Amino acid sequence: MIPNAPSHNHTHANSSANNRTLPPSVFTLPPTAQLEALYTIIRNKDTSRGDLLFYSDRIIRLLVEEGLNHLPVIKKSVVTPTGATYDGVGFEGKICGVSILRAGEAMEAGLREVCRSMRISKILIKGALKHLVYMGRRINSWDGFQDEETAQPKLFYSKFPQDIAKRYVLLLDPMLATGGSAMKAVDVLMEHGVGEERIIFINLISSPEGLKTFCAKFPRLKVITGWIDQGLNEKAYIIPGLGDFGERSGSVE
Ligand code: URA
Repeated sequence: MIPNAPSHNHTHANSSANNRTLPPSVFTLPPTAQLEALYTIIRNKDTSRGDLLFYSDRIIRLLVEEGLNHLPVIKKSVVTPTGATYDGVGFEGKICGVSILRAGEAMEAGLREVCRSMRISKILIKGALKHLVYMGRRINSWDGFQDEETAQPKLFYSKFPQDIAKRYVLLLDPMLATGGSAMKAVDVLMEHGVGEERIIFINLISSPEGLKTFCAKFPRLKVITGWIDQGLNEKAYIIPGLGDFGERSGSVE
């Protein structure tokens, strides 16, 4: 196995928390003007749902590409149409996407655009949701289970491929706020035999608090985040953030 060259840990270069040091397991995107322009569009409260999905999808593709840079590769030789041999590399193991419902579902398209025919599993964690939508109507309970915002995140649904323990997992959730649901999702994956070092958590925006808690619990798990914001408000929204991603993208009303 050839260890993959780690890409740059862009130490808070794109963050308003500029001077703090990032945990070594956290990787951000190069803070280009284009990236900042994309974030400006998706953060704008007047941006339509269609534009939010289109422009966040563009960022998600960049994040997935960065995530793939962290997967190990092995030597692989191919014969080119000239008849010559090219000694290259291929990914060492199978990959699986896991989206944390409901907001993470909006990241699946971006993942599929980068990784063709990738297997994507879903995980639903209660307590991470404010409310659910059933048949177009907003509901506050499902199967009689009250959704308490203050409750500890609880696993509600998960379905993984049988060989999940042998795969590398790209875990998707757009907003890392308190980190509660993401940490629960990792716990569930680990209970299914997935090693911490085989999971890469991909998100659009992180809070410094959430990152700190998450990385302290899972120091060997890599986090690829597009932007690190100022912090959380009293309702656990990321500030400046972009509001409720699930609601704005249409997953949760
Ligand atoms: N989830 C969101 O969608 N937005 C936040 O700001 C925090 C959690």
